Amino acid sequence: MKKTIFYAAVIIAITNCCTVFAQASKKSADAIDIKVNALLAKMTLEEKVGQLNQYTSDKDATGPVSKSSNKLEEIKQGRLGSMLNVRGAADTRIVQETAMQSRLKIPLLFGLDVIHGYRVTFPIPLAEAASWDLEAMELSARVAAREASASGIHWTFAPMVDISRDPRWGRIMEGAGEDPYLGSLIAKARIHGFQGKGLGNLDAVMACAKHFAAYGAALAGRDYNSVDMSDRLLWEVYLPPFKAALDAGAATFMNSFNDLNGIPATGNSYLQRDILKDKWNFKGFVVSDWGSIGEMVAHGYAKDSYEAARLALTAGSDMDMESRSYIGNLTKLVKDKKVSIALIDDAVKRILRKKYELGLFDDPYRFSDVEREKKELNSPENRQAAREVAKKSIVLLKNDNQVLPLSKNLKTIAVIGPLAKSNTDMKGFWSVDWDNDKLVSLYEGIENKLGNTKLLYAKGCEISDSTQTGFSEAVAIAKQADVVIVAVGEAFNMSGEAKSRSNIHIPGVQEELIKVLQATGKPVVVLVMAGRPLIFNWTADHVPSILYTWWLGSEAGNAMADVLFGDYNPAGKLPISFPRSEGQIPVFYSSKSTGRPSMNDKDIVYKSAYLDLPNSPKFAFGHGLSYTSFKYSDLKLSKNKISQKEALTATFTLTNTGKYAGEEVAQLYLQDMVASVTRPVKELKDFRKIMLAAGESKTITFIIDKEKLSFYDQKMKWGAEAGDFNLMIGTASNNILLSSKFELID
Ligand code: NOJ
Repeated sequence: MKKTIFYAAVIIAITNCCTVFAQASKKSADAIDIKVNALLAKMTLEEKVGQLNQYTSDKDATGPVSKSSNKLEEIKQGRLGSMLNVRGAADTRIVQETAMQSRLKIPLLFGLDVIHGYRVTFPIPLAEAASWDLEAMELSARVAAREASASGIHWTFAPMVDISRDPRWGRIMEGAGEDPYLGSLIAKARIHGFQGKGLGNLDAVMACAKHFAAYGAALAGRDYNSVDMSDRLLWEVYLPPFKAALDAGAATFMNSFNDLNGIPATGNSYLQRDILKDKWNFKGFVVSDWGSIGEMVAHGYAKDSYEAARLALTAGSDMDMESRSYIGNLTKLVKDKKVSIALIDDAVKRILRKKYELGLFDDPYRFSDVEREKKELNSPENRQAAREVAKKSIVLLKNDNQVLPLSKNLKTIAVIGPLAKSNTDMKGFWSVDWDNDKLVSLYEGIENKLGNTKLLYAKGCEISDSTQTGFSEAVAIAKQADVVIVAVGEAFNMSGEAKSRSNIHIPGVQEELIKVLQATGKPVVVLVMAGRPLIFNWTADHVPSILYTWWLGSEAGNAMADVLFGDYNPAGKLPISFPRSEGQIPVFYSSKSTGRPSMNDKDIVYKSAYLDLPNSPKFAFGHGLSYTSFKYSDLKLSKNKISQKEALTATFTLTNTGKYAGEEVAQLYLQDMVASVTRPVKELKDFRKIMLAAGESKTITFIIDKEKLSFYDQKMKWGAEAGDFNLMIGTASNNILLSSKFELID
């Protein structure tokens, strides 16, 4: 009884508190509206257009600078609402002081690509996605926001929430992989991380969900290329992470370079007006991608920048990044009655609102605090966080004969390969403010870890060229060692924006180097450091132990050493399928059955298959091993039939059957067996990351409700259809260990 009264009291208190909170935030929203409207009333048309204009600094451009001009003078004239690529507490203060000399003293927004860390660099986003650890990803974004905001930054152009199934596309490194469910959860975690407890807090930066939309499906994996896709694919696969970002409170969206079904995303009203601003009721603002408004001329969609500006604003792009189409044309467009002042006002209000929410009208310099910057950047706490996240991002692809973990008492280890001593490459592509001296290479990480072991080193070869002259030295030291650790992969600038590649095999002669080292008969451990899934079939077939480490950031070497020597038991799982050949792309787990499904890699006659290649990927989505082993048993469904209003629970026992404590990511997949629209053979619908001591068992429960069974029907209506479902639980998309059927009834 007492307990009931207590809970009732708590619920009432929470309800009251929520109501009070909702009322308070409504009040402050109204208060901001009043201020925004009052300011708007004072603005000239030119000043309004100025707010919609963003330039890069000339120092650190991240794209082709449209024109150099006296930017400070333009700021004084109120011709700029935001700058990107100005960073540092001191520099942002100087530029903001200039804005304070403008007639209305409207503060500037400082935006930057804080994609995977600011001063302390975190693993690239694709690597972090391999952790399947939402808290870790939120932490990574949180630390980045703390550092960036202390350095004068108000706004990060992240997270990139583009799903991509094409590893040729260089920007695959910047996303969360191939799956809309995992991608949506990650989008949410990252938005929460960047925006913290909300805009207005000193350690929060505005997030920007990008690139709206479907950029990850650029044809042939070529950056900036066209996208052509069905509305079904758009809604089922490419839009869900954007919706998740919006629901998580993303302050801004960025549109995209690609055209979608013939209409550039930047000038696309269906995307920006109909979906984002109308259907989803997005209240923040949309920034164009770099120069993308002007690029509609090259697309052949606009005759000139005058028309491009009209098309973009009308379609819902609020701010022009670097193309100068708005500043050059919007005033005239209004005077020519081609663009209504109401549209301009709406865009300006969206931007001003964010400036108020950030507190910039109260104090335009509040983020430009040199003292705070000194304390925050590269702090031991931030580095520790980077090491934790880096460890979690590593995927153990293979560990035949349990070569790993290595003993810390080995006498001699040979560390070989063009990436073994590289620190620069560890920073990955989108590092902005890194400190080269503080990037830990693999070799340094191993050195930091071990006391008495003799370390031998040879580079062996370069990353990309064809010279094999270093092989003999590498073989000679390998022969002297107890274990050979080989670090191969890509240089930091081989994946990223404008870094698409048609050949995604491990570059140069690195795999040849692995072959000669393997031929020594010594135990070989290969670490692949890269920004995308690479192809390395020989290595995958012959080398017993392989870790996929991606580019892990500032603490890369320490994190890799933690895993190599067993201080951390790897638990990463691939967020994307690894192809056997470029000819298989796109290869992804949630494919359709087809009318002639191939049942296994040998079943090819008159089947949907290749003559020269299995359908299966080399490494599947969800794959990743541990130093321990797990048993899945005792699957029980609470019911075999459910109605649309019911949910069922699937419980099973997960046991750590090995000798190390470790984490497992147990994955739930569902298949709608027969539907009015063909459905994928399996779709990830839930997962749990669970820590188990050696010998320990836990009961795991998944809840399956109507939402998990729903899809867009023939009329694109969201809902679930009665019929049979296949429920699959496993350790990877290609390693289902428990399964059962159930029925949904009307
Ligand atoms: C172009 C990229 O596509 C975008 O993601 C980035 O934020 C801008 N450049 C600014 O650097």
